[in-house]
Parts: sequence; C-alpha cells; structure tokens
Amino acid sequence: MKIIAPSILSADFARLGEEVQAVEKAGADWIHVDVMDGRFVPNITIGPVVCKAVNRVTDLPLDVHLMIKQPELYVEDFVKAGADYITIQVESTTHLNRTVNLIRELGAKPGVVLNPTTPLSSLEWVLEYVDLVMLMSVNPGFGGQKFIDNSLRKTEELANMIQSKGLNALIELDGGINSKTIKSASDAGCDAFVAGSAIFGSEDYTATIKEFRTLLGEA
Ligand code: DX5
Ligand code: ZN
Repeated sequence: MKIIAPSILSADFARLGEEVQAVEKAGADWIHVDVMDGRFVPNITIGPVVCKAVNRVTDLPLDVHLMIKQPELYVEDFVKAGADYITIQVESTTHLNRTVNLIRELGAKPGVVLNPTTPLSSLEWVLEYVDLVMLMSVNPGFGGQKFIDNSLRKTEELANMIQSKGLNALIELDGGINSKTIKSASDAGCDAFVAGSAIFGSEDYTATIKEFRTLLGEA
C-alpha cells in the first residue's frame, strides 16, 4: 500500500494536537514534519519541542524533513523528540555519509532529499545507506505551491536507479501533491506522498484521503 503523509505545515497550529489526531483518524499513514531554519530555506517553522508534542498525540510514524543547514547538529534532538524517519537535504551538509550514519546509529531511519534541480547523480554513493529518497516537487520553503512537472521523469529515473542497483529505498514526493497530481506521481514510481494544503486545506480530511486512495487504485 502507498503511504500518505499529511504535512502539518498547512495545519492550524493553534490546534495542532487536534489536527494531527484528525488526520490520523482520517487514514493517514505518516505525519510529515517540516523543519525550516530561515537559512537553508527562506522560512522558519518548528523545532524538536513541537516535534515532541506531536509525537505525544499520535501513534503514527513521524517523517521529519530537515530543511536546515548543518543538520548533523540537530538530528539527535529530533530522534529524542520521536522522529522515526529523518530526511536531510543533500545540499545542506558537507558530510552526507556521516550524517546518514549518525541518524541510523541514533535509531531512526535515514533518508535524503533532493531539491528540484539537484541531479540524481548526487545519490550515487549514498543510495545504498538510506531507507528513503525524497524528491522535492516544489522549491522547499512553503506549502501550497504548484507541482513541478519534470519531477515525474525524475521519479521514473530514480525508480530505475533503485531497481537496477537491487535496493529497496522508498521514493517520496514532496510538494504540490493533490488529486490532480497523485496518480501520475504514483505511476512514475512514487511510494509515499506528502500533502499539506491538499489535505489540511480541505473540508473533510477523511474524504480527501479516501479520494487519494481511490486515485491510487486502493480504495
Ligand atoms: C515545502 C515542504 C512541504 C510542504 C508541502 O518546503 O517541505 O512538505 O508542506 O506543501 P503542499 O502539499 O501544500 O505543496
Ligand atoms: Zn516537507
């Protein structure tokens, strides 16, 4: 089954606990937590304190997306805050292999994220060490942006790359996923879908997630 990961970036932060419980009840698989530092991306969001609070109100895995410089300085805090998956941007750290290993040693599942124009070749020497590769299908920093179309071809090429190396890293897409884009993303080989505005901006979270599952051929 494919994985649906609502991004709390588009939730009502004044009612964050209720919002997280609402998407869990609506059938979400993971909770996607967007961490931004105002340096790697032009926006500032949340840190380990909020991550820990979210972890207290849900049984779902936390998929923590670090859009921060020097992520190696903070991964331990996020593991302690309950992160299950920690994804780091390949552009954000000089010592990618070391940081991926650190995440695993601390007991979380490491993943790497590529900005829209970062080539797949940047994965060559790290792919075998990660559980997850996330492709940004928008420029990171904000919710509610339009899906960048060539992310589909990039997803197909990544799926071939993973298969030809005999690996099983999951492919996740982040940005602009909605009822118009989810099916083609899935057909291209995507396993996990982050959706912020499409879910939290909808009237009925259960109906929206159900619609996604129908489009994915699962309902
Ligand atoms: C963007 C974040 C995304 C964002 C996606 O930098 O990484 O996770 O919340 O939002 P939507 O689904 O609205 O494009
Ligand atoms: Zn994200």
